[in-house]
Parts: sequence; C-alpha cells; structure tokens
Amino acid sequence: MSSPTILLCLLLALSIRGGSFQPVPAQPSQASFAEGATAILNCPLEKGKIQDYHVFWFQQKPSAAPAWVLKHANDNRIDRGSQFDTRFVPIRDAGANAYVLQIQGVRTEDSAMYWCVAEGNYFSTFVSGSGTQLSIRGGASVKAPASVTLLSDVSQTSNAPTVHALCAVEQFYPGILEMKWSVAGKEITEGVTPGQVILNKDGSYSARSILNISRDLLNSGKPVKCIIRHESSGAEHKQSLEQCQGV
Ligand SMILES: *[C@@H]1O[C@H](CO)[C@@H](O)[C@H](O)[C@H]1NC(C)=O
Repeated sequence: MSSPTILLCLLLALSIRGGSFQPVPAQPSQASFAEGATAILNCPLEKGKIQDYHVFWFQQKPSAAPAWVLKHANDNRIDRGSQFDTRFVPIRDAGANAYVLQIQGVRTEDSAMYWCVAEGNYFSTFVSGSGTQLSIRGGASVKAPASVTLLSDVSQTSNAPTVHALCAVEQFYPGILEMKWSVAGKEITEGVTPGQVILNKDGSYSARSILNISRDLLNSGKPVKCIIRHESSGAEHKQSLEQCQGV
C-alpha cells in the first residue's frame, strides 16, 4: 500500500520540471454515466505518443486519500490495486492517442475523481492530467442533498466593508458536487473559498463554500447566488443571498 504514496510524491516533485517533450494528458473535467453502464474515462495525450509511456490511474473520493487503481505498462501488462477488480479495464486507443479507463457495470460508489498519469524513462517523465469527476446516476443509494442553506453576516452591527456568505449543502451521496457562486448571473471565483466536501458519520457527504463580497456590491442590488449541482441525483439548487437578508 505504500507505493501510491511514493508515486504521488514523485508526481509532485517531477511535475514542476515541465519541459516541451513532456506528454500532456488532457482529461475532461466531468463525466456521468447511469449505474450498470460501462463508464468510459478518456485521457488523450496532446504531446507524446501513448505507446511510449506507462499509464497509472488513481481514484480519489472526498476527504479520503487517493487510491491507486492500476498501472497499464507500455508492454500492456496490467497491475491492479487490491480494492480494484477486473471491472476496471485500461485501454490504449492508438487512433485517438488516448488512454481510456473503462469501468464495467459501474456502481454509485465508483463516483469519484479519477486521474491518469503518464510515466516514462524510470520516472524522468511523470505527468498527471487534471482529473475527471465521475458521477454515477440512478443507483438505489443515491441521495439528493437534504438541504441547501445560505447564511451571511450582512446584518453585523460593525458595518464592515466585507460580508461573508456561507453556502452549506447537507447529506448527499455520492460525494461529487459542483458548487459555484454568481453575481448578477455571472460566475465569480474571486473571494471564494472553494467547496470543502466532508464525510458524515452516516456515510453521506456535506459541503461548504464561503464567499467574501463587498458590502457595496451586495447593496447594489445585484443578485448573489450559490449554485449547486449534484449530478448523480440530478438535483440543482440556486439559493439567493437576498432571501437571507434581515434574517
Ligand atoms: C475571506 O475573509 C476571511 C476573513 O475576513 C479571510 O480570512 C479569508 O482569507 C478570505 N478569503 C478569501 C478567499 O478571500
């Protein structure tokens, strides 16, 4: 079990080196499949040839350590991590110059972030894609968020120039959730502390995101919203900050 840790440390150490001969894995940021289907995760290489590299796949669920799924060597040998069975099938697609991870008979609990990592020349090249968030829809264990709450300190007596808004999403499963903020209908990232997903005792997940916004902007009357999407259940919520003012 120590090898994934070593690999990830190498990944961090070596990804800083960069260089124009590096393969560049380009993973789509999201994917979604119905339970029982064959999920297909793509990892096309923008530079380099897929035949030249070994590929590693890693899985990470919220508030858990990354798990090593498998290694697909450039001689096509496959080694799997102990938690991953033959439902996880790596493919080299020479035509598309892409690595593919198939997950056959995909289950709700396979919902997670998946990274592909290309490795060549005894770790002198070790480059990771930016990860694909996989959401599995329609399973019996899927739970839409029980609540979405937006709280703010807008009515603080100090009249501080910055107002803090907290968006809290409770008890959903699986733990893959998209959380965004918008002002006047446009997504904003400035002042946003990104969504932290936490595992509850009952196995469900909750998430929090905080927005710092200037009191002037808030008072200008432009609608400020927390937007969440839970792909597995199809749940979408838009919560307006205005609705909480004066509470
Ligand atoms: C938001 O405000 C808090 C306290 O006022 C500060 O500690 C935090 O760094 C700010 N976060 C961002 C992303 O601006």
